[in-house]
Amino acid sequence: MTMLIPPPLSLYVHLPWCVRKCPYCDFNSHEGKGALPFEDYVDALIRDLDQDLPLVWGRSIHSVFFGGGTPSLFPAEAIDRFLQAASSRLRFAPDCEITLETNPGTTEHGRFDRYRAAGVNRISFGIQSFDDACLKRLGRIHDSGEAERAVKLAQDAGYDNLNLDLMYALPGQTLAMAEHDLQRAFELQPAHISHYQLTLEPNTVFFARPPQGIPDQDNAWDMQERCQALLAAAGYGHYEVSAYARPGRQCAHNLNYWRFGDYLGVGAGAHGKLTLGAEQAVLRRWKIKHPAQYLAHAGSAAAIGGDERIAPQRLPFEYLLNSLRLHEGFALADFQARTGLELASLQPGLQQALERGWLVSDGALVRPTELGRRFTNDVISLFLDS
Ligand SMILES: C[S@@+](CC[C@H](N)C(=O)[O-])C[C@H]1O[C@@H](n2cnc3c(N)ncnc32)[C@H](O)[C@@H]1O
Ligand code: SF4
Repeated sequence: MTMLIPPPLSLYVHLPWCVRKCPYCDFNSHEGKGALPFEDYVDALIRDLDQDLPLVWGRSIHSVFFGGGTPSLFPAEAIDRFLQAASSRLRFAPDCEITLETNPGTTEHGRFDRYRAAGVNRISFGIQSFDDACLKRLGRIHDSGEAERAVKLAQDAGYDNLNLDLMYALPGQTLAMAEHDLQRAFELQPAHISHYQLTLEPNTVFFARPPQGIPDQDNAWDMQERCQALLAAAGYGHYEVSAYARPGRQCAHNLNYWRFGDYLGVGAGAHGKLTLGAEQAVLRRWKIKHPAQYLAHAGSAAAIGGDERIAPQRLPFEYLLNSLRLHEGFALADFQARTGLELASLQPGLQQALERGWLVSDGALVRPTELGRRFTNDVISLFLDS
């Protein structure tokens, strides 16, 4: 074994409520009924963070991500109170990226100024499509006009680091419609675009009753290829399976996940991954999922859904599951530092992947080829029994 060296640390904060549950969504998100307990939830998040602090003493936070659910349901004052509490407990790096996920149907005038004053410096919008009929079929609470207005409100408040989430292969969507969605997105000049293929996730309404008109795999593939070309031509570099960014505007928070960095996870159902230097182990910790139970137990042992030390023989697989999502791949030295394993543990999987033309290496860096990116699951499975 070589030494595990703690990588950069991020903070994920889960805010679990939405106005309405979308029929395709399997996130830990719950339709908020009546007045939501924002203040109590922030108190719970702070207790939760206090409980995890001994796992990260002395380390700095490099990014924060408020994910959901719909974090933009929370008033800026609640976000501000949490960030103040967090930054008084943990050192925030000077260039700390702080992202808030936003549903365009929940924004109101003035809110973005206050999120900005609270320290949020990046907004991620769940746009999904600019086609009103598609939005309706997806059960979204906003139309395309509202989405555009919300983005412009954020820009007026001084935000230039914006992400737009779009989905493709939507029910009733043609290739031309998918292209048109991207053109509308480009007009808003976001720094980052996430472009996801709609998937039918178990335990969703769409899984139980698939909507009519979902493009077949061939059509979805055509959409992906054509949209990738449009994104490239518009200056968005493809750096991860579904992520595209203007130069220098990759999402620092997600990059840290994909590089097998560490993260604290606070909030209902939040997951964390932490390198324990003294123990020379990698810990996964997750919190209980249901908001009411989380509110009742946050900060106590009953709020910990589970603690798992990743078995060393599984670390190569887990490392590659993340790092091979990235076009840049990974450095062999980072693999050693973040898994505590010798390079020999990557063989013979690495050798086979190189021979099949799925990966290339210069002896220091390893990255997936275009062929490898097409067969990511096959590539990663080579490392299951390393
Ligand atoms: C937590 S949501 C984002 C913020 C906010 N809740 C919203 O929907 O506006 C994260 C993103 O994941 C994507 N997503 C959710 N479910 C998906 C699915 N079944 N297939 C593909 N993408 C999905 C959507 O683009 C969504 O914006
Ligand atoms: S608003 Fe976002 S998190 Fe909420 S149900 Fe819809 S997709 Fe899921």
